[in-house]
Amino acid sequence: MPIDVALDGHVATITLNRPDVLNAFNTEHLETLHNAIMTLAEEPEVRAVILTGAGERAFAAGADIAEMRDKRPSQALEFARLGQSVCLAIEAAPQPYIAAVNGYALGGGCEVSLACDIRIASENAALGQPEVTLGIPPGWGGTQRLTRLVGPGIARELIYTGRRVKADEALRFGLVNAVYPLSDLMDKARELANSIAANAPLAVRASKDAIARALDVELDTGLSYEAGVFALSFDTADQKEGMSAFLERRKADFTGS
Ligand code: HXC
Repeated sequence: MPIDVALDGHVATITLNRPDVLNAFNTEHLETLHNAIMTLAEEPEVRAVILTGAGERAFAAGADIAEMRDKRPSQALEFARLGQSVCLAIEAAPQPYIAAVNGYALGGGCEVSLACDIRIASENAALGQPEVTLGIPPGWGGTQRLTRLVGPGIARELIYTGRRVKADEALRFGLVNAVYPLSDLMDKARELANSIAANAPLAVRASKDAIARALDVELDTGLSYEAGVFALSFDTADQKEGMSAFLERRKADFTGS
């Protein structure tokens, strides 16, 4: 299978598993990934998801160039839409996604990581949008999400030149949140995922939904949405549990209800 899914407590790990081609995405790989994301979205026990690549060299080196080369425009459109649907599914998922970037994240690989809520990287990571070096622009959201994440100045430079950014520079650009030795990356990803999973899942989900709107709507509309989900949270058992636990000086035990 081009995708492995493992569950550990409230944390799921999806591993992109085509190491022979540095986890490049072909159609089957994308469809399997999409299915895995949609299945996990229906699992209330899963409160955070880690996405990483098999092997020690790559998160994903992009879309599969061998599959792409002979596509006609209509097939290329379908392929662009399929990759975009994977990214949209990550963003629509109730759980936060953490991309553990364990090497190359290029082209579509970088774009899938950009759809994740948080990116952390290993010291050997290299991220970039090399599409123009292949005669194509980005197609899975790079022009949109990279621009929103790092701003138009850096995004334009990276997309127009196609150059790869090493982990330390990616950290400076805000493209990744933290950099660790490769041997520590998955432990750090699990630590981060577990710290999210310990919190009230519905509150985390509401926060994810509200943050997504921050980039899309006017401030007034975003603030109204935030006030709405804030108010609704007072109808959850976890709101009573979280506040009672604080007042009783104990650790909260959230159930996601
Ligand atoms: C298919 C790929 C691949 C890819 C690597 N491989 N990337 N196959 N598609 N994107 C394969 C190689 O052909 C090779 O197979 C094996 O993986 C190992 O790669 P090497 O090139 O031998 O390794 P190395 O010399 O270390 O170079 C690593 C690399 C390079 C710098 C990551 O592989 C590279 O530049 N890859 C392409 C990166 C890229 O341009 N990505 C963007 C794709 S376009 P063999 O059989 O020879 O061992 C894209 C568009 C998204 O993503 C939007 C679509 C709509």
